[in-house]
Amino acid sequence: MTQPLVIAVVGSGYVGLVSAACFAEIGHRVICVDNDEEKVRLLNDGGIPIHEEYLPEMLGRHRVGNIEFTTDLHGAIKQAQAVFIAVGTPQSDAGDADLSYVDAVATAIARSIDGYKVIVEKSTVPVYTNEWIRRILERNGASKEAFDVVSNPEFLREGTGVTDFLHPNRIVIGVESERAAKVMRQIYEPLTSGAYYDLPHAVPGSRSAASPPPLMKMSTKAAEMTKHATNAFLAMKISFINAVANLCDAAGVNVEEVAAGVGMDERIGPKFLRAGIGYGGSCFPKDVAAFRWVAEQLGHQFDLLAEVEKINCEQKKLFFRKIRSALWTLRGKRLAVFGLAFKGGTDDIRESPAIEIVQMLLKEGCCVNLFDPAAMERAKAILEPGSQVAYVSDIYEAAKGAHAALFLSDWQEFASVDLDRLRQELRHPIVIDGRNLFDPELMSGKGFTYVSVGRPSLAAGVKAPH
Ligand code: UDX
Repeated sequence: MTQPLVIAVVGSGYVGLVSAACFAEIGHRVICVDNDEEKVRLLNDGGIPIHEEYLPEMLGRHRVGNIEFTTDLHGAIKQAQAVFIAVGTPQSDAGDADLSYVDAVATAIARSIDGYKVIVEKSTVPVYTNEWIRRILERNGASKEAFDVVSNPEFLREGTGVTDFLHPNRIVIGVESERAAKVMRQIYEPLTSGAYYDLPHAVPGSRSAASPPPLMKMSTKAAEMTKHATNAFLAMKISFINAVANLCDAAGVNVEEVAAGVGMDERIGPKFLRAGIGYGGSCFPKDVAAFRWVAEQLGHQFDLLAEVEKINCEQKKLFFRKIRSALWTLRGKRLAVFGLAFKGGTDDIRESPAIEIVQMLLKEGCCVNLFDPAAMERAKAILEPGSQVAYVSDIYEAAKGAHAALFLSDWQEFASVDLDRLRQELRHPIVIDGRNLFDPELMSGKGFTYVSVGRPSLAAGVKAPH
């Protein structure tokens, strides 16, 4: 494999921590910097602040020797050949990304730089951020020759971030100098050469030594635009299928048959065509808004994205109406709620449609038994336990005596629930499924009244017409 580099990763959130662990996994020495002392202490004590597949094993493997955690940004920058900025870019009130953390890190880097370094923006940022980072570095005393700024957007999904990093569809690097491109190629060489995939401990995935990922070199602005356009397109795909699902509901058609038919067209592809209660998470809502804002700054109204947001917002309300029409009145009813995370496989509840739906239910006077395999601790800060809100430790306890069960996140373990036991525990056999986890005919055969998204609702014991 290639010569290892010393890499500093600033910010140990989802993107920073996964990237840091993966850089160590492919042979580099990594210094992970965060200004949150408690988080750094936790990581140094062997703890992991997020729920992410393969991360515990990988950090366990590399903690001694390949990766260290520190609050000392200055010391990390001095040692590093490449500095990845992976700090948060939250949405501001105006809809644009708040880049003040990126600005602060760039300023700190300028004060510590003492030789040529490649500064890499990894956070999702609007086009021109690269240019701003360069200006901030120069304004704060870094000489032009001492650095290059590169854009290397990530396409990691939470929950499968490690696999997405090590088995990417593509690696995008936006560079303006050959010197920086050489460093970036060196960093990713274990993946692009395929050498990583032959290692005995390699994390399994779609890539192999025979089919390594391509590295796409482009301008920095094109790389920034690629990231925003990718997320906006995926969000659009989800809103599109949700709009189609609503037509399917009205026409008595199964949206999954339609999505399968549409997705078989190679020009469209089958992924991100799962209808449900809308997209959430830390990326899509923020990035769609930020991309719209970018368009506005560039003198264009990207109204298509406003429509994508509108459909997404409406989807939660439509689902809420389905709950109401299945239960008639809501005040005083107790509901079993499965899933609080914005999707299955993560403990992240940021912009989670599940949380919003529970909040609507509470406002209507419902009581809820909440269960999520990973997100309950985080949810407690927003949905405080009390007379209306109970947190329980498994699915069947949540279902006990409830007037209906709601499925709001697509955890794999929900799909394999023991349906007979679920029916026995519920007061009424009603399942309202926001993620289309079950087959409608199976559910009705098992004695449930089953309501889902974009698929004809079946009362207990009814067969679907063919
Ligand atoms: C997303 C992008 O996929 C990733 O490339 C980027 O780097 C960060 O943003 P993530 O937010 O982790 O990743 O979640 P993702 O799996 O993309 O799902 C986003 C939301 O869309 C979730 O709420 C999910 O439930 C929903 N979704 C996804 C659907 O409703 N239907 C689908 O078909 C796919």
